[in-house]
Amino acid sequence: MTAVLGRVGPMYASLARDLQRLVEDGAVAADARMPSERVLARVLGVSRVTVASAYRELREQGVLTSVHGAGTFVVPRSDTRPWGRLVTGDGPDVLEFVNAAPPASSFLGAAYEAAARGIATTSAHPGYVPGGAFRLREAIARRYTARGLPTTADQIMITAGATDAIHAVVAALVGPGNRVLVEHPTYPGALDTLRAVGATCIPVALDPSDPDAFVDAADRAARQHDPVLAYLMPDHANPSGTVLPTDTRRRLAATLHRRGVVTVIDEVSVDLDLDGHGPTEPFGAPVPDRAAVTVGSLSKSVWGGLRVGWVRADAAHLAAVATVYSARQLTVSLIDQYAAIELLGDYEAVVAHRCDQLRASRDALTSALTRSLPDWSFRSPSGGLSLWCTLPAGERSTELVDRARERGLMLAPGTRFGTGYAFDDCQRIPFTRTPEEIEDAVAVLAELMGGANAGPRERVPSRAVPEAVV
Ligand SMILES: Cc1ncc(COP(=O)(O)O)c(C=O)c1O
Repeated sequence: MTAVLGRVGPMYASLARDLQRLVEDGAVAADARMPSERVLARVLGVSRVTVASAYRELREQGVLTSVHGAGTFVVPRSDTRPWGRLVTGDGPDVLEFVNAAPPASSFLGAAYEAAARGIATTSAHPGYVPGGAFRLREAIARRYTARGLPTTADQIMITAGATDAIHAVVAALVGPGNRVLVEHPTYPGALDTLRAVGATCIPVALDPSDPDAFVDAADRAARQHDPVLAYLMPDHANPSGTVLPTDTRRRLAATLHRRGVVTVIDEVSVDLDLDGHGPTEPFGAPVPDRAAVTVGSLSKSVWGGLRVGWVRADAAHLAAVATVYSARQLTVSLIDQYAAIELLGDYEAVVAHRCDQLRASRDALTSALTRSLPDWSFRSPSGGLSLWCTLPAGERSTELVDRARERGLMLAPGTRFGTGYAFDDCQRIPFTRTPEEIEDAVAVLAELMGGANAGPRERVPSRAVPEAVV
């Protein structure tokens, strides 16, 4: 009996473990102030000594820090690894799986040729088009209207990609110290942009197998934290691939609007519907126009090198965003905009071609993982660009990524997609490369994990790769 009880360990240690897990899951935000020992002891019905010992344990592990007179805080985790959004060194021996960026569309060349001819006829034009070319804004507005969100050209502002759009929206609507709800896991670029303006990101757990629970969690977080904004990807979220069902998105839109939260909807992957489920209702459709600001781009359906994105908003929000944007950018490249007009003219074919490519790569990835890494778990997404995997117990993505890098396979660690310590047990794998490259990448992973079916492949690169850069 004593021996059995001895295995349970002291109570403070299990409390420390539970608290650490909450921090790692992002339920307690990085840099959050912890409750005082007295308050937590009362809430949990344990002695103050137990809480004090658990806090001491977590301080020793570097999870918490105490500031005299101010309280105990979660230590913000600063990821200083060279995992920026982009990497260099994509040589023949490198398998670059950091970015979920597909190759250029085969429609691109013809679009630029037509754009060049168009430019040749406008040589008298000064070349600056603040807000964007009217025909492009009109084409984008028509697509929103067709999807059920009536939109006019003057509700669209063209930007150099969605990144530029998110920057402008955040700069216009978020100030230092403001709180912003983010689905969790989320797109790292949005976290970076929000942090850069001094915002605090409030993570709201998004479970792809239970998106409905997200509505209540977002409602609770909105009530508790009084955020100014929520940043969401209702269609094929990066990295989880989640699509919010119509009822869920309607409830979520209404809930956030009722709480006075403006929602920024990132739709860069909206068209990547690989299983043909058909178009979804735009998030902003059931709520007043001012409730949602939408950003989009052609980076995923066409190419990240085509820097054309946009903001869609009501007049007041768009004016605020345009004021910020015009202070740092006079115009988006006109030839890129002309190419975008061409591409949107045949957009169904462009998207169908991209989806065929991504579907083949997704299917190659899911079968390679199922075959070679059966203890990794994932849900096969119906669209988007990546698979979000849970690693077997005890495996850490940060360590796996380091080891993979030595073998020429570059991946972004799961922690890039969360706040605090979250998602070191998860791994994103983009399916934007060819099925052959995907097979190679999974072979490297299987070998690193000591998988049973992990025979090294001929083309698996073995030499170290150059440093990635932000
Ligand atoms: C969700 C999300 N938003 C925005 C972007 C950036 O898009 P763009 O290349 O148009 O700036 C990405 C690119 O990975 C993304 O995944």
